[in-house]
Amino acid sequence: MDMYKGDSPVKELYRRLPVMESEDGELDEEERVKAIAGPLLSWFGSNARELPWRNNQEPYPVWISEIMLQQTRVEAVKPYFKRFMEQFPNVEALAKAEEEKLLKLWEGLGYYSRARNLKKAAAIMLEEYGGTMPKTYEALLKLPGIGTYTAGAVASIAYKIPVPAVDGNVMRVLSRLLESRQDIGKPQTKKKFETLLLSAMEQKEPGLFNQGLFEVGALVCIPNGAPKCSLCPLASLCKTRKKGLWDEIPVKSSKKGRKIEEKTVFVISGQKEEKEWVALRKRSDQGLLASLYEFPNVEGHVKLECIKEEPLKFGNILQILGVAEEQIQQVEFLGEAKHIFSHVEWHMVGYRIRIGNSQPESFVLADIQELEGKYPLPNAFLAYRKALFKAK
Ligand code: ADE
Ligand code: SF4
Repeated sequence: MDMYKGDSPVKELYRRLPVMESEDGELDEEERVKAIAGPLLSWFGSNARELPWRNNQEPYPVWISEIMLQQTRVEAVKPYFKRFMEQFPNVEALAKAEEEKLLKLWEGLGYYSRARNLKKAAAIMLEEYGGTMPKTYEALLKLPGIGTYTAGAVASIAYKIPVPAVDGNVMRVLSRLLESRQDIGKPQTKKKFETLLLSAMEQKEPGLFNQGLFEVGALVCIPNGAPKCSLCPLASLCKTRKKGLWDEIPVKSSKKGRKIEEKTVFVISGQKEEKEWVALRKRSDQGLLASLYEFPNVEGHVKLECIKEEPLKFGNILQILGVAEEQIQQVEFLGEAKHIFSHVEWHMVGYRIRIGNSQPESFVLADIQELEGKYPLPNAFLAYRKALFKAK
């Protein structure tokens, strides 16, 4: 695809030209948004990054990549996307995916409901659409895990249907363009931007228009720190740039505080026939991190002193976990770790516990060598998994 490759003289020109001030004081919001199409498309033509999912703008890879890109950085997504397309190259393969294999592949990306919804949607596509993806924006919207952003991205990029795809990056760019102080955390703000963009969509190349906006948001009108207005194709139209207000816009109301949960995590290991195992527990199939594996853990922080001074109390906890105190050979403090989910924070302390030859029945005893490859263990426990391998 030529449009994605190489530099062009235009790119150089944009670098060098001073921003031309246009007589645009009169433009209303709709006209201003309409005016971005030309400069945006020509800029994107020479500034688009080469990304694995851009080689093939078929609906399936566009869908998978857009789901992965929600809440995850482009660089982090790249290797996951490649592995995913190898293992589940089409709707049918995804619909028939073994849940555990799918979750294992997703491990580290977080927000596992995205993976579960992919499979659910694929099953519907297999059943109702003969294993292809629906061809309209409205039909895409009906599928699990597909909202206006994803439906818009797939419809515009794969089918060239002129519909917007508004995510946080696009809202930042538009808020600045228009000097809008509407809270981008509110659904009405998103709706307003969708309506404005819909009337401004470049009819011939809606996919490039939307991707151009993603790209401006990722490379130029960046989220943290000063935007690179001197490189921006929208600079001459941008109200925020003129007034130097980038640090005030966009406005986002702060999230309600997350709930803090304290936990004590136990990395319990032992030997069986020359092999070292580590105890895992499967989480319930409902709620946070459903059906994934975890190291056994209890509510609250069990203090190190408690082991030294109140071994009985600690023993009680182990009893709850199904480990008899006399089996314990060694206890080691693994330190603190924190994991932030969207609505909860886990503040954890961890202990490594080596036990003798017995095998507690309440756990899955995972061969340490298989831990990496077989059991989907959420990132929340990564700090303790690392400690396990370091301590070995
Ligand atoms: N962010 C969201 N969607 C994207 C895409 N298709 N390319 C690059 N960054 C993105
Ligand atoms: Fe963002 Fe600056 Fe471009 Fe305005 S000119 S959209 S503030 S990068």
